[in-house]
Amino acid sequence: MTAKVVTVFNQKGGCGKTTLTMSLAGAMGLRGFKVLLVDMDPQGTAVRWAAGATDENPFPASVMSLSPMEGKMHKEVRNHMDAYDVILIDCPPSMNSAAPSSAMLISDLALIPVVPSPADVWAAQSAKKLTEAAQATNETLQAFVVANMVQSRTSLANDLLAVLDDDKEIPLLKNMLATRTAFREAQILGTTVHSVPRAQAAIDEVEAMTDNILQLLMLPARKKKGVPA
Ligand SMILES: Nc1ncnc2c1ncn2[C@@H]1O[C@H](COP(=O)(O)OP(=O)(O)OP(=O)(O)O)[C@@H](O)[C@H]1O
Ligand SMILES: [Mg+2]
Repeated sequence: MTAKVVTVFNQKGGCGKTTLTMSLAGAMGLRGFKVLLVDMDPQGTAVRWAAGATDENPFPASVMSLSPMEGKMHKEVRNHMDAYDVILIDCPPSMNSAAPSSAMLISDLALIPVVPSPADVWAAQSAKKLTEAAQATNETLQAFVVANMVQSRTSLANDLLAVLDDDKEIPLLKNMLATRTAFREAQILGTTVHSVPRAQAAIDEVEAMTDNILQLLMLPARKKKGVPA
């Protein structure tokens, strides 16, 4: 097997890169895929998140830091491609980091999480530019903006989502994540929302997004038992 590779990045801090990467990696792991999550953030948030899991309920994907490798990380990731079905790369929130460009050299899909707030939508432009530059080299790289922490009942959020949806070069993914405490609880428990009590709405969101991402990667859905279709 040769792993499909997904890069999650946005130079803007706190937009949900780690939450999105951990959610997708965990959901795919629970479906039986062999998943590696590469943490490129020197803060090591993803590694710490997974380290918080109990022995009885380990995080359902391997998580490792390659942050010191910076712009050479793609060479190391290539060494792991035969051992995994999917490799997801969580990038740091830095304008100067070489990680996103390096990761996009070997990626099938780039995801740019964006919070529908004016500053975040504005800041997403530089992430989009970097993606377009990567697509000039890696012509098969697909790219989507993913709306996170969506409060869809507000008209401002809806207006900003419409702006993001207008971009035909890097479209808005149809699946979004709402603001839900379950995502924070999952981080505390070292797990995914699947292990958080009374988190069905968050689970449904993550599962629907996982279906779509697997389709984009041309992988089978492999539905998890007990998760409604
Ligand atoms: N959909 C959500 N609902 C509720 N809280 C969320 C959601 N997404 C992210 N958060 C919270 O927002 C904060 C930032 O999220 P996260 O760490 O995933 O962002 P990040 O882009 O990886 O940040 P950094 O730029 O520092 O790496 C965290 O406390 C996280 O729990
Ligand atoms: Mg992060």
